[in-house]
Amino acid sequence: MKITLSVIKADVGSVGGHNIPSKKLVETIENHVKKAGPRLLKDYKISHTGDDTAILMSHTHGVDHKDIHKLAWDAFAKATEVAKEQGLYGAGQDILKTAFSGNVRGMGPGSCEMEFEERPAEPFIIFACDKTDPGAFNYPLFRGHADPFHNAGLLLAPDMAVGFEFTVMDVNYTEGDRIIKLNVPEEYYDLAVLLRDPEHYVIESIKARSTGDVAAVVSTSRLHNIAGKYTGKDDPVALVRTQKQFPSTGEILSPFATAPYVAGGDRGSHIVALMPAKQNEIISLFDGPTIVTAAGICVHNGIFTELVDLFDQPFWDTIRAKATQKTLDIRDQGFFGCAMAPMEELEYTGVVERIKDLDKKFIIRK
Ligand code: F6R
Ligand code: MG
Ligand code: MG
Repeated sequence: MKITLSVIKADVGSVGGHNIPSKKLVETIENHVKKAGPRLLKDYKISHTGDDTAILMSHTHGVDHKDIHKLAWDAFAKATEVAKEQGLYGAGQDILKTAFSGNVRGMGPGSCEMEFEERPAEPFIIFACDKTDPGAFNYPLFRGHADPFHNAGLLLAPDMAVGFEFTVMDVNYTEGDRIIKLNVPEEYYDLAVLLRDPEHYVIESIKARSTGDVAAVVSTSRLHNIAGKYTGKDDPVALVRTQKQFPSTGEILSPFATAPYVAGGDRGSHIVALMPAKQNEIISLFDGPTIVTAAGICVHNGIFTELVDLFDQPFWDTIRAKATQKTLDIRDQGFFGCAMAPMEELEYTGVVERIKDLDKKFIIRK
């Protein structure tokens, strides 16, 4: 059976700062999807990561379907009203346009979707980050699909040995979708030079070359490209299929043990370590740490099993401690050099404006 998985997520308000949505806000989203869903959806799951709430939906309408996007848009619009009533912080933060125009892309909420023929057993992972941007997935997805140090299947499983096709988006281009497709292993180094610049080039999707099947999709929206100014970090989501012709669930998780440095944390403007966190985790220190959650799940005839928390296992406690230490190490350096995000990534205008003023006062000594 051909099935579509859609994840649409947004931050429409949170308790205590940019920390976590209120229970009532999440219930409002759930109630809307529950009521409006049966006519459109096979199944759904609601989860939250930091201050973002994600709606995972299964259906048969294909990607970019207007009614599916409207269902999520309306749920977030209703939740915005509740956020205003409750006086939540950042009510409606990711609702950047007033009227729905057929698709949530370019309107604030993040989304990623994939359509495929269901395998007899269809395991996949839904990843969600808070306080970072879509490029945060470059490192783990590149290594999970292209590096035998993490994905031993590239050496051991003949299906995977032919490699993967990566579609990479130039997220600085705002006139439309500027993309490039690169095949690994042949174009490994070409891919590497793009992905090393995660604020500019972002993995949008990955395909298994053995079967042509979609393997992974990432939300690539850049909020400041939509709004023209800082409106919060993009806080990406990703769907990754696992096992058989795809990397195993453990191989996909393996690169997250690095706790790589990403742009994010406080005011979306720092470099901090990406901490693998448990489901529905809250945000705290320095408006961080930047977190990623991973839920494992199976879908059969469009119906989901329960979500299992892939980072709720003793191994990840050590990685959380490592991420904490890495963040503390770079935090010691405050805003100096590489501790603060590159100039064009600073989400607030203070530094840039100050430099403009200072620029006028510079003199050239004769
Ligand atoms: C980062 C984030 C926070 C805010 C910070 C200031 O993505 O959401 O770090 O940037 O708390 O928020 P405002 O400007 O809303 O007071
Ligand atoms: Mg927020
Ligand atoms: Mg957020």
